[in-house]
Amino acid sequence: MKSNLSILQSTRTSYKPKLPKVLIGNPSKTTVKKGKATQSIGDQAAIKSLFPGTYGQSEVSFAPGKAPVELKKVVKVALVLSGGQAPGGHNVVAGLYDGLKKLNKKNTLTGYLGGPSGLVENKKTEITDKLLAEYRNTGGFDIIGSGRTKLETQEQFETVRKNLVSAGIGALVVVGGDDSNTNAAVLAEYFKANHIPIRVIGCPKTIDGDLKNEQIEVSFGFDTATKVYSELAGNVGRDCLSAKKYWHFIKVMGRSASHIALEVALKVRPNICLISEEVAANQWTLDQITEQIAQVVADRASNKKNYGVVVVPEGLLEFIPEMKKLIGELNDLLAHNVEFEKLEAPEEKISFVRYQLETQSKNAFNSLPPSIQAQLLADRDPHGNVQVSKIETEKLLIEAVDLKLKNWKKEGKYKGKFSGQGHFFGYEGRCADPSNFDADYCYSLGFTASYLVAAGLTGYLSSVRDLLKPAFQWKAGGVPLTMMMNMERRHGQDKPVIQKALVDLKGKPFKAFAGQRKNWAVEDNYSSPGPIQFWGPSEVADAPPETLRLERGK
Ligand code: FBP
Repeated sequence: MKSNLSILQSTRTSYKPKLPKVLIGNPSKTTVKKGKATQSIGDQAAIKSLFPGTYGQSEVSFAPGKAPVELKKVVKVALVLSGGQAPGGHNVVAGLYDGLKKLNKKNTLTGYLGGPSGLVENKKTEITDKLLAEYRNTGGFDIIGSGRTKLETQEQFETVRKNLVSAGIGALVVVGGDDSNTNAAVLAEYFKANHIPIRVIGCPKTIDGDLKNEQIEVSFGFDTATKVYSELAGNVGRDCLSAKKYWHFIKVMGRSASHIALEVALKVRPNICLISEEVAANQWTLDQITEQIAQVVADRASNKKNYGVVVVPEGLLEFIPEMKKLIGELNDLLAHNVEFEKLEAPEEKISFVRYQLETQSKNAFNSLPPSIQAQLLADRDPHGNVQVSKIETEKLLIEAVDLKLKNWKKEGKYKGKFSGQGHFFGYEGRCADPSNFDADYCYSLGFTASYLVAAGLTGYLSSVRDLLKPAFQWKAGGVPLTMMMNMERRHGQDKPVIQKALVDLKGKPFKAFAGQRKNWAVEDNYSSPGPIQFWGPSEVADAPPETLRLERGK
């Protein structure tokens, strides 16, 4: 056993994740039930023409019955973890491995190292009982690592094909978010079109919670990460009540959608929580957002409360209209710009772009402090996105609110004291040991993936449903990847992508929040959810995410 496992972790490795009943039974008495043929969520004609081999497949579910033929064949499976870490990844590996071994002891699992680049570079390791023993129920992706390399060129596909074929691989399981599973769909189609007998199955991962739809109730990792952030934010609320002297601005991860911020708000009841989707819907400017926050600060100050908690979603800036335009222009300006790449000093970079921006964007850029200007010019990720985790939006808001309050003070509109503290809760939650919900869900997703492989399917996302019920009653099956796709404009081109789920402003979680936030703004209603519990009463230890409870509860 790894010597650096804590006492809690070593004890936790012996936790036996719960499985849906259908996966506990004898595989030879398990059958694949096929539903009706499906179509993509949008742009059906375009998606169909791009995915002629895998388009229109039926949704499937596993049920007691006659066994699918291939369950008895030996299969070598390749696995890749893709994108950002999410709690429970190791349990997906464990579930996949245990499922494959249950189907046939001779089945094998090879982990490709460091994300999709491992498939190209042919870097791999065999997953064994001994290796897995150290990782069961632990957080992180370190068993094989992860990465953000995008597989998109024909050369990459060809190399992956050669590497997998020469290793005798019959199926590839990709654990990833919307972009990685879009990649999985493209790869599945490529193998099918070229008559290469390798199936591709995906697993829905991301703490951001934005890979969800009718069929996928939640992506794994969301529950644990938000429980960690909520514990920390709850503690900050308690500190606020005790010290009564700071306004805490807490930025929480979530590249684009505000699901994480909303879940934390529902659990912790901060004075303010910004929801990027609402900002975009109302076209609020940075100044209007600043004004709204400053107003709450001023109202509370008039009740002698010079403290409070503000939750800020990581992706906020990209949803503020003038900032979105600015970021879009910067993306175009910086893409493959050799002259810009030669510059080193932040000031040089800032003046280089300043004079090339259109007037509106130039004004928006000039309104930002130099530190944020420099962060907006930092390297893009491999998908060409601004790395929002590097932008200190919480500090920007503190500065902007401070300035506004100073002006209001001069005008006699405000009499309080404002002292801001910035926090960023992101990486702290991505590799946490999975909650019972994620430990069980991930293990079930991996196990289901092994059954999808055995059933000879390709181009499917592993799907485990009815998650508000006890795990024993969960349903296991698969959703065709093309069913979740539509065409979107990416880097000047129309691309087939899995649709990202943003916060639905008409949905129950947002409504539950919106119905209470006025009260939360003025009262001290902070709640402390406390640390994740692995043992104890089921309503505490096995609790699902609040968002899921509101979305799917009766
Ligand atoms: P995935 O969508 O790949 O799961 O990653 C999510 C995330 O954790 C975001 O919340 C965050 O913005 C981003 O990854 C940070 O990425 P990096 O690890 O490259 O800094």
